[in-house]
Amino acid sequence: MNEKKVISDISKSFFEGKKVFVRVDFNVPIDNKTNSIREDYRIRRAISTIDYLLDCGAKIILGSHLGRPKGRRVNELSLEIVANRLSQLLDRKVIFCRDFIEDKLAEKIDLFPNKSVVMLENLRFYKEETDNDANFSRRLAELADIYVNEAFSTSHRTHSSTYGMALDFDTKLAGFLVDKELKFISKMLKEPEHPFIVIIGGSKIHDKMTALGNLLEIADKIIIASGAGYTFIKANGGKIGDSICENEMLEWAKKTYKKYKEKIVLPIDHLVSESSKHTDSCLIVNSDIPDGHKALDIGPKTIELFTSIIKGPGYIFWNGPMGVFESDTFSSGTIHVARAIALATLRGATSVVGGGETIAAIRKAEVLESEISHMSTGGGALLEYIGGTKLPGIEILD
Ligand code: 3PG
Repeated sequence: MNEKKVISDISKSFFEGKKVFVRVDFNVPIDNKTNSIREDYRIRRAISTIDYLLDCGAKIILGSHLGRPKGRRVNELSLEIVANRLSQLLDRKVIFCRDFIEDKLAEKIDLFPNKSVVMLENLRFYKEETDNDANFSRRLAELADIYVNEAFSTSHRTHSSTYGMALDFDTKLAGFLVDKELKFISKMLKEPEHPFIVIIGGSKIHDKMTALGNLLEIADKIIIASGAGYTFIKANGGKIGDSICENEMLEWAKKTYKKYKEKIVLPIDHLVSESSKHTDSCLIVNSDIPDGHKALDIGPKTIELFTSIIKGPGYIFWNGPMGVFESDTFSSGTIHVARAIALATLRGATSVVGGGETIAAIRKAEVLESEISHMSTGGGALLEYIGGTKLPGIEILD
């Protein structure tokens, strides 16, 4: 369910010749050594909205942030490289605008032909963007006639481009990606198919706490591994050596485990080492992890246990890797989970996978995008939404 108006809810002719500001999230990982984009998923996911608006004869102005430059111009965080990639994907010119105020862009766009695509420089080069400055919001709004949010993953921010500028528009619509994200996540929260299996990994638990609380109510089983899992294991009196753990969350983990112990599934063996750099001195540990060692991946019995739960059909939600998957030595657990989810999807499960690291893990496991029902572009926004927070960038839409 998505109660917000989508670009396809109004007639195509409405867009013809109009200037449409599309807030995209092109906050993609850049390899500064090779000056290349490491992962362009977020750019590709915006293409169907851009194509649709071009087909309608609109002029498109794309705005995004990249990283957190804190109001300064940082060359490594320029969106020019992204504009070039977008131009390749669209197979058309993308006019890159370094400074929309200096360039008197509003006047220029009026002279551009229909179907022009303009990409603004990193909006966070202006401190006013994150301050949601009223004057800055107005300057942005002056560039266009219609506002479209295609940046679900930034919708939890009350910034000028995600919220402030939208106030000035009569027409504020969701793009196709935002629509898809809202539909999948609302379905998961309101009427998931059962069994509903949740897999939570990653190092931190505190930013997932509210989301986890909500998911525990509706899921049938919740697998919790990595730093989040070791916090639970320690809270239950287990010895975790030097494994990642959030000590301030122990009390919460203890209470939560007590309440939901029928649902929570934790690792039962662990691949440990002194550090992720010590790849040649790994041990598989079945119970207590000795001091001086940390768990860096789940062990073989845990892999068997987890994959026996992730079977399909039903609904599956995954956020966060099982260990330090970036290192080949510690990637086996994460890869097995990713492949089990793909297989469960083939058996009819609806699978939703979210968060930057999780998407990188899917790639590492060589699972195809088409083997997962929905790969969410959202990280923090996704968790806030699952946790029940109203996202300002979504609330503001028609
Ligand atoms: C993200 O990567 O989660 C979004 O682009 C939001 O970025 P931010 O946390 O810097 O606001």
